[in-house]
Amino acid sequence: MKEAKSPITKTEDKSFVTVYIMGKAYKVPTEATIMGAIEYAGYQLKRGAGCREGFCGACATVFRMPGDYKIYTGLACTTLVKNGMWLAQLPAIPGQKALYNIEQIKPTVNAIQNLYPEVFRCVACNTCTKACPQDLEVMDYIQAAKRGNYEMLMDLSFDCLSCGLCAIRCPAEIVQMNVGILGRRLYGKYLAKESRFLKERLKDVKDKKYDKEYEELMTMDKKALSKRYYDRDLEE
Ligand code: FES
Repeated sequence: MKEAKSPITKTEDKSFVTVYIMGKAYKVPTEATIMGAIEYAGYQLKRGAGCREGFCGACATVFRMPGDYKIYTGLACTTLVKNGMWLAQLPAIPGQKALYNIEQIKPTVNAIQNLYPEVFRCVACNTCTKACPQDLEVMDYIQAAKRGNYEMLMDLSFDCLSCGLCAIRCPAEIVQMNVGILGRRLYGKYLAKESRFLKERLKDVKDKKYDKEYEELMTMDKKALSKRYYDRDLEE
């Protein structure tokens, strides 16, 4: 994070709050996100920022509040600032990732035991669920992994951003996000029903049936593109 000249003023305007970035006080707009406040204070974020919309998980961060012993967590791009907040940028969150050849493993409890044995140390404290900025039932999908219930593991972890905030709080040192990825991969390869339309669509793509539509999408503005996305037909 590179510091630039700070644009703050000494105003007591109620639309500003004071936050501390790396121990230095800054007045930032009340409605700013943590990421917005850091940039408003004059810092340039070169790492730990991606989509800025709460989807990519790149901006996991921690903060503290005055007089409170707790360390709070959140996504810097969607968590709003509060008066007195203490902020610091986290280095990337390390996450132990098992290496495997998906052709050589099956969706069984054994796969979990071999690749992520720490899952069986889960003490069901629910800290992972409380830390999740997506409000996922993280502990429940870890319990599903323990039982070899891949459908539940896939389903409950499906919206995971891999931000890692669950993993940094886990006393059993489980990296929940990577267990979820394993579950979704195995479910997709061995258990998911094959889509009725997949083969047809792949052939259509090969035959360049959608090239004209792709070109049209590339020229659309964000609003029109968003409307087209949300109005699309979904396969049941
Ligand atoms: S920048 Fe992508 S989730 Fe925050």
